[in-house]
Amino acid sequence: MAKEIVNVMISEEEVEKKICEVAKLISEEYKGKTLHLICVLKGGVFFMCELAKRLTIPVTMDFMAVSSYGAGTQSSGTVKMIKDLDESIEGRDVLVVEDIIDSGRTLNNLLELLKTRGPKSLKLCTFLDKPDRRVIDVPVDYTCFKIPDVFVVGYGLDYDQKYRNLPYVGEVVFKEES
Ligand code: IMP
Ligand code: MG
Repeated sequence: MAKEIVNVMISEEEVEKKICEVAKLISEEYKGKTLHLICVLKGGVFFMCELAKRLTIPVTMDFMAVSSYGAGTQSSGTVKMIKDLDESIEGRDVLVVEDIIDSGRTLNNLLELLKTRGPKSLKLCTFLDKPDRRVIDVPVDYTCFKIPDVFVVGYGLDYDQKYRNLPYVGEVVFKEES
């Protein structure tokens, strides 16, 4: 049986510093507007809270949940809607907040769906990006960190639903148990 260990990849301090920078940029770009944040559950929730706290423009929020991974580390390629938004996004300036973009399948599906609902503008903000893994091209407007093709946890990201609560980003190393 494989047992995993987690090594710190991006420290809590680095994460906070970067989120402040991205929040400043977003606040400048949406000056005079109300920004509607859409959090993709569950992974995006830590990042969205930290980001939202630092935005200086008026903000509203909604949440949706989709699933593309099971208990493993490979994207299934199909995206299932688990929880839809509570409110209409018609005519609103929408920013989708995601934990990580890997193959791009999840976000591609999600953005196509949201576009059909008539937002005034639709942009994407991701905490992490693994560009080497991209299968479908998705337009990413704001990225905190680009990372190599490794499996990471923490700051909302899970392995088998664990480690979401780590205050840093950690790389998962799988060890064979002897
Ligand atoms: P995509 O559809 O392949 O882009 O997958 C995106 C989703 O896969 C993310 O929202 C995460 O839930 C999950 N995911 C991708 N890479 C990782 C990782 O390194 N750690 C934890 N979850 C990941
Ligand atoms: Mg996940």
